[in-house]
Amino acid sequence: MTTDEPPVVIDWSEHAERLSAAVDDDAAWYAETARHLVEPGDGLAVDVGCGGAGMAMALSAALPSDASVVGLDGDDEVLAAAQRRVADAQIDGARVWLIRADLDHDLRSLPAVARNADIMWASASIHHAADQQSAIDALAAHLAPGGRLALAEGGLRGRHLPWDLGVGEPGLENRLLGAEDRWFGRMRESLPGTVRMPYGWTTALRKAGLTEVTTRSTMFEQTAPLAHAELTKVLDNLAHRVERASESGDLDADDAAAWARLLDRDDDVWLGHRDDIHSLSARSVHVGRRAA
Ligand SMILES: C[S@@+](CC[C@H](N)C(=O)[O-])C[C@H]1O[C@@H](n2cnc3c(N)ncnc32)[C@H](O)[C@@H]1O
Repeated sequence: MTTDEPPVVIDWSEHAERLSAAVDDDAAWYAETARHLVEPGDGLAVDVGCGGAGMAMALSAALPSDASVVGLDGDDEVLAAAQRRVADAQIDGARVWLIRADLDHDLRSLPAVARNADIMWASASIHHAADQQSAIDALAAHLAPGGRLALAEGGLRGRHLPWDLGVGEPGLENRLLGAEDRWFGRMRESLPGTVRMPYGWTTALRKAGLTEVTTRSTMFEQTAPLAHAELTKVLDNLAHRVERASESGDLDADDAAAWARLLDRDDDVWLGHRDDIHSLSARSVHVGRRAA
């Protein structure tokens, strides 16, 4: 990051409702992943950086009713929105507790209800910790013997558009992904006390002393033409990403102009008129086990 580039500071409160709404989109994947992670005899799961608590709820449904699930997050409004979802869900399963905890300061001294976990789950949260390896080490240390730490990180970001849209320079979507990479790099460099982790998630799990390290990836595909509801979701998601990349200054002005036309429903080149929009992405979960 050069000195004239502004730091990236995320106010998670602004994302509370979006994270809560995203729970429905990911519900099937959460349920399937939770069933895959839970083992007989498990009594405690922790969802670290829980956002809308989608995985906390899925874990509670997959665990027996005498088990507990603890959702941890650093933002009060995110936790309040998650609490509303948990209350609405009326889950017939393990009890869900939501607790405020910071990834950079609180992981080594978690409250007793979050220690000795059979499952520690962290999805898209550890990459917001200043020292990712230190956070992973701390979580691994809270595992019960035989417990698993599961990191949902990486995978493949969504692809939706043909390379040449006939508006702007071809390769618009690739350059949006590039702009997001630049933003991500600045976000990491802006974290106070940031430490680079120049290796992959499976290596990080092994460095934390975990064994039987594996990765399981799930592909999500919806072929063109998309149904109306799916098309709307894709366009809303693209609009959110383009707005963020434009506001942060990571998107080139010509590309921003092309996106403005493609996302304007009053323009004849609006993406919503096309029958060649699709959705292809993958999510990876890296798991390591503490020796029994
Ligand atoms: C990208 S969201 C992921 C939410 C959820 N795990 C999911 O997969 O949908 C990152 C989450 O981590 C939380 N978070 C970010 N930085 C944090 C920190 N330093 N301490 C605690 N939570 C943090 C945010 O409040 C947010 O809920």
